[in-house]
Amino acid sequence: MPTPSTDTPELLSTPDDLRRWSTASRTAGRSVGMVPTMGALHAGHRALIDRAVADNDRVVVSIFVNPAQFGPTEDFARYPRNMDADLAMLAAAGVHAAFVPTVETMYPAGLVTGLDIAGPLGARLEGASRPGHFNGVALVVTKLLVAGIPDRAYFGQKDAQQCAVVCHLARDLDTGVEIVVCPTVRDTDGLAVSSRNVYLSPEERVQARAIPSSLAEAMGRYEAGERDATALATTVRSHLANAGLDVDYVAVVRADDFTEVEKAAPTNQIVLAARIGNTRLIDVVRLGVDTAPVGRGV
Ligand code: PAF
Repeated sequence: MPTPSTDTPELLSTPDDLRRWSTASRTAGRSVGMVPTMGALHAGHRALIDRAVADNDRVVVSIFVNPAQFGPTEDFARYPRNMDADLAMLAAAGVHAAFVPTVETMYPAGLVTGLDIAGPLGARLEGASRPGHFNGVALVVTKLLVAGIPDRAYFGQKDAQQCAVVCHLARDLDTGVEIVVCPTVRDTDGLAVSSRNVYLSPEERVQARAIPSSLAEAMGRYEAGERDATALATTVRSHLANAGLDVDYVAVVRADDFTEVEKAAPTNQIVLAARIGNTRLIDVVRLGVDTAPVGRGV
């Protein structure tokens, strides 16, 4: 039976520290769970951590704002950083170790190796809007799995295309790591929790409710028998546009490779990205799996 730590998590700062910690745990016969994060921890991260603590004897959470996955005009510099609060959350959750490397440690001068996520999974939707993003995610996740040699690693369903990328890389690179995808956590207004929600002004936060309610409207149509993917996507798009959001994309996709479908089926997902002012948010519902993401009072 896994035992949450009652101590402050051990601080690990280099990939070698992480490998030594993990090797010692495994040599002692302990299973290892890893939760990769970029910090600014919220209830969504806490759900991943709680699941990892329940599933594994030892849990390490990485906190690293990964420059390789941000485009030149994106929010790397202003991405929220909150190390003291993050470490307090890890201690409260019973996490055994925190891996907190510097950029120089993760990407030393002279690094020549990269990863390329091929096909529609890397190039479409998030991949098209954020060129190079998934290659940067794949590189850092691979480095974390190689150094951390976990039995399991935990990711949030909200980043649906990222989850598909990570599942593929874990299999393609024979990591032997089980990738556990955990359900999206939503605030009481239905908005999926995200580190980027802090960018929203109070007025924008109200406007952002259109994101879960657009998906709820499309799910309602799906449940009433609508199977035409264009019709479902148009429902979401119109709902968002009527609320004044700037729609980046809406699509009904296969969960494994993110190719778009013409007829919606229970294993498909509706994915979207939209901007409210300067803030870009993404969301997803899984047809036939999720309940409609309507917040209380929306
Ligand atoms: O989802 C995130 O927070 C990041 O993309 C991840 C997986 C930690 C890689 O930097």
